[in-house]
Amino acid sequence: MSTRHDDSRGSRPGGGVKPLGEGRGFNRERLPKHLQETLPAPHESVTTRSHLRVNDIHEGDARLLLPRIEPDSVALSVWSPPYFVGKQYESHLTFDTWRSLIKTVITLHYPVIKPGGFLAVNIADILCFKDKSMPKVQAEVISRRKSKVTREDVLRAAGEHPEMNRYQLAELLGCSEQTIDRRLNGNNIRGGKYETQTRVRVVGGMVEEWALAAGFYTYDRRVWVKDAAWENSRWASLSYRAVDEFEYIYIFWKPGITTVDRSRLTPEEWRDWGSRGVWSFPSVRANDDHEAKFPVELPRRLIRLLTEPGEVVLDCFMGSGTTAAAAVMEERKFIGIEIEKKYVALAKQQLRRVQPKLPDVH
Ligand SMILES: C[S@@+](CC[C@H](N)C(=O)[O-])C[C@H]1O[C@@H](n2cnc3c(N)ncnc32)[C@H](O)[C@@H]1O
Repeated sequence: MSTRHDDSRGSRPGGGVKPLGEGRGFNRERLPKHLQETLPAPHESVTTRSHLRVNDIHEGDARLLLPRIEPDSVALSVWSPPYFVGKQYESHLTFDTWRSLIKTVITLHYPVIKPGGFLAVNIADILCFKDKSMPKVQAEVISRRKSKVTREDVLRAAGEHPEMNRYQLAELLGCSEQTIDRRLNGNNIRGGKYETQTRVRVVGGMVEEWALAAGFYTYDRRVWVKDAAWENSRWASLSYRAVDEFEYIYIFWKPGITTVDRSRLTPEEWRDWGSRGVWSFPSVRANDDHEAKFPVELPRRLIRLLTEPGEVVLDCFMGSGTTAAAAVMEERKFIGIEIEKKYVALAKQQLRRVQPKLPDVH
């Protein structure tokens, strides 16, 4: 993590790294207390830094770069964070550091969103949340049972032969000692009896709590129905759980004047998606260059619904640059933040494809 934080400070031509917290665009008072304490004191600043450039993708940690965005300048921030589902780019996170990341990022949004503007968070529940405190699910998967010996058979034999250990019971019943153990102690739903149990972890409540604490109000929520991810839902065949096939979009509002302009969409668009709580469109099929892209339709709809042309759209988990591309297509400005160098390069490449002559993207 520390290397990543250093990245966001920016290298100097002569080597070395700029201290954090320097310059006009940075206000340490806007950071949560624990971050203020980790940053160098203001007198350590050596140069003046301006606000983050608009129409650019900035490499660094969102927690360190968000305070450098011009206050009250962003009409809409739309992003999809790490979901804590085991992707490579989130493998360093524990559940606690994941929660702290999302909470801090939401908190840091309040000063940069303009009054009357919006924060839209695309997120999904954690469908396979490992919970050490969870009791073992005492059901076996019938379709996976290899031996015909049932729990009742084992209990009956153990009752009739209390002196027998599990090896002897196995011999008596003509099965393995693992079968005896499994029948007596139960399998968990992921197959291995020693694996930690997993459950669904609903995230909406946490996200709302953090947004309300930051000063936002919950304005709307929509569901995006995507392709059913069978390959990511192996638990589905070992339990009664549904596969992964929808995500949420939580929309938070910063108090202020909000223009409601029904002419932003055509009557057909209002009917088909503008006024609809459920959006259905396919997931990105080729995740070869980034493992968790959202389709451009997602930020595009939010941008069209919630902003005017020329306004600034922010994505602080920019990934492959989808939100920036949507903003350009819809003639809005954008600010992107992304921690991984390779994704910053990918996002810039994608932007050049969308608008080859975009002057400000380096
Ligand atoms: C779910 S992906 C977003 C994908 C993006 N919506 C797209 O369509 O390509 C989350 C991204 O956040 C980045 N990320 C993770 N932690 C970050 C942090 N602290 N600051 C900035 N970016 C971060 C990851 O590298 C990853 O690219």
